[in-house]
Amino acid sequence: MLKLLFVLIWLITESNSSAPIISIRDGKIKGEIYITSNTKSYYGFRGIPYARPPVGNLRFESPQMPEPWEGTLNAQNDSKSCITSFYIFNENKESEDCLYVNVYTPTIQENAKLPVMFWIYGGDFITGNSSKNYYGPDFLIEKDVVLVTFNYRLGPFGFIATGDAILPGNYGLKDQNLALQWVRENIAYFGGDPNKVTIFGQSAGSASVSFHLLSKKSSGLFRAAIMESGSALDMWAINRDPKSYALKLASDAGYDGSNVTTEVKEFLKRKSVSDIVEVTDWIKLNWPVKEVEHADAFIQDLNYELFKNGNFNRVPTIIGMCSQESLAFLLQPIVAMLEALIYDNTQELLLPIDFASKKNNTNEIIKEIKSIYLQENDTFSQNLTSYAQFITDTFFTRGILKQAELQSWFNPVYLYQFSYEGRTTLKGFIKGAGHSAELPFLFKMSNIAWNDTDTQNVLIQDQMVRMWTNFAKYLDPTPVKSELFSNITWTRFNPLFYNYLNIDSTLRMGFFLRQPAFGKWKRIFEEYALQPYNTF
Ligand SMILES: *[C@@H]1O[C@H](CO)[C@@H](O)[C@H](O)[C@H]1NC(C)=O
Ligand SMILES: *[C@@H]1O[C@H](CO)[C@@H](O)[C@H](O)[C@H]1NC(C)=O
Ligand SMILES: *[C@@H]1O[C@H](CO)[C@@H](O)[C@H](O)[C@H]1NC(C)=O
Ligand SMILES: *[C@@H]1O[C@H](CO)[C@@H](O)[C@H](O)[C@H]1NC(C)=O
Ligand SMILES: *[C@@H]1O[C@H](CO)[C@@H](O)[C@H](O)[C@H]1NC(C)=O
Ligand SMILES: *[C@@H]1O[C@H](CO)[C@@H](O)[C@H](O)[C@H]1NC(C)=O
Ligand SMILES: *[C@@H]1O[C@H](CO)[C@@H](O)[C@H](O)[C@H]1NC(C)=O
Ligand SMILES: *[C@@H]1O[C@H](CO)[C@@H](O)[C@H](O)[C@H]1NC(C)=O
Repeated sequence: MLKLLFVLIWLITESNSSAPIISIRDGKIKGEIYITSNTKSYYGFRGIPYARPPVGNLRFESPQMPEPWEGTLNAQNDSKSCITSFYIFNENKESEDCLYVNVYTPTIQENAKLPVMFWIYGGDFITGNSSKNYYGPDFLIEKDVVLVTFNYRLGPFGFIATGDAILPGNYGLKDQNLALQWVRENIAYFGGDPNKVTIFGQSAGSASVSFHLLSKKSSGLFRAAIMESGSALDMWAINRDPKSYALKLASDAGYDGSNVTTEVKEFLKRKSVSDIVEVTDWIKLNWPVKEVEHADAFIQDLNYELFKNGNFNRVPTIIGMCSQESLAFLLQPIVAMLEALIYDNTQELLLPIDFASKKNNTNEIIKEIKSIYLQENDTFSQNLTSYAQFITDTFFTRGILKQAELQSWFNPVYLYQFSYEGRTTLKGFIKGAGHSAELPFLFKMSNIAWNDTDTQNVLIQDQMVRMWTNFAKYLDPTPVKSELFSNITWTRFNPLFYNYLNIDSTLRMGFFLRQPAFGKWKRIFEEYALQPYNTF
């Protein structure tokens, strides 16, 4: 008996300390064993190359397949993050050489065929990374799925474009696509099922999911999608004038030639990272673009039209948002008030960016938009709650609800609103859950003080993780009635009812999400806007 116990202890300690080594397409890798707070052990393989380093002549190019390696690659640490505006303070943590993937899995049996969840981080296409500290796998892993996280290029390195095939743009989205191809070819070695891949992301990562739905290049690489707070139909998700930004950047970096794209590209390829980082307008330059037709194009059509006409990868999709997204950006009443004043004084800003009106009646349209949020003679600066609502709708709700509606004619859609104002929410002076509020319920985030004894937090976390992983397993977030979900069935979105799951201290199905505001926006588009649309 005692002997058996010793063997057990030896087994446990030995398996915890020995590093797992497996062979994948490009060579051998050595990972590590981790343990969740509920004592489930799992494997982590971090920093595996999925592309050749996009440096030197490969900067501003589509990512290339990686080279195989000899010997055993150490896959125990996060790779460096892609270049952000913080590079200047963070040179030892960021690098152009950043195209690496991390895999967390409960098993490394090749025939285990576990569902795979592929996470695309947010950060406005200018920041974000896949560090384990930030997107910790523990909660998802406990439900027996394989989690993949990875880095993609950001800012000018990921998105500079000149509207031609020479600097076509979207390198960051093309990275994501190559990482998805890597998953297809390698995930079985980690116990994952390449035919059960769910892509999910938040904010710009959610808009990215939307772009994978729209791109033929990503067709067949996943069978389900989850979108949290962002859509390719949101008006911030695209850059409408990439060329002038690109030329300005080159000129600010010292280029003074004739602005021929090949020359601009060669000039920028030879600049140092810090030279480029310093002259970059980190707010403006860096979104996906509509590309001209060429072999490598990732997106070349109008986003709205593709969804409307069913020209997209039709897979079951969960799509949703936080109840007051804008709160994460309006932290202080005084800041919100100053911003609101800008909208009060420059009322053209109320118009959606891509809104081309049929008639010359801008004032009439503006009046109608105002009336969605304000009483006659009222102003946003006097009514910050209405202002917050306007910002939430304009930057998030409108595009998200429209995508749910257009997509739902072709495939199952499940709509949610995350409304829980727990202690992890960025609490504003206005009620609601702000942008990113749901993230700590899905990932173990070291920067957020998580209170394990707060039963409300723990319950919502359990519900969300269970629904998200159910979706990855069964394509249905609530396949059977259960006490955990208070016996609720999250029903498929129906465009007549706008039915949605409200995620709060109690789960509840609701109807007509964001009505009447959304209905009024739809009427304004129908009555006044020129078709075709790109965003909504
Ligand atoms: C990489 O991970 C290993 C194992 O956790 C650790 O011992 C080592 O210090 C890490 N190296 C770096 C450079 O962080
Ligand atoms: C990764 O992102 C988190 C959250 O934005 C940030 O705190 C952290 O510094 C980043 N890590 C690296 C290595 O860039
Ligand atoms: C090139 O573009 C820059 C930035 O827009 C502009 O300042 C410059 O005058 C242009 N040069 C030529 C030769 O057109
Ligand atoms: C629209 O109306 C304004 C003022 O009524 C006028 O100044 C402007 O020229 C008109 N624009 C067009 C394109 O008709
Ligand atoms: C703000 O506007 C909304 C919508 O018109 C209205 O219901 C609310 O009473 C207003 N709040 C204040 C403080 O004026
Ligand atoms: C709004 O202001 C105008 C002009 O001052 C006034 O005639 C009108 O009665 C006001 N409307 C309301 C609802 O207070
Ligand atoms: C954690 O939550 C419990 C229950 O809500 C509460 O009593 C306790 O004060 C919280 N701890 C911290 C550190 O906030
Ligand atoms: C869920 O359904 C079961 C079986 O019908 C029932 O016993 C239980 O009370 C229900 N729970 C809730 C929260 O409605």
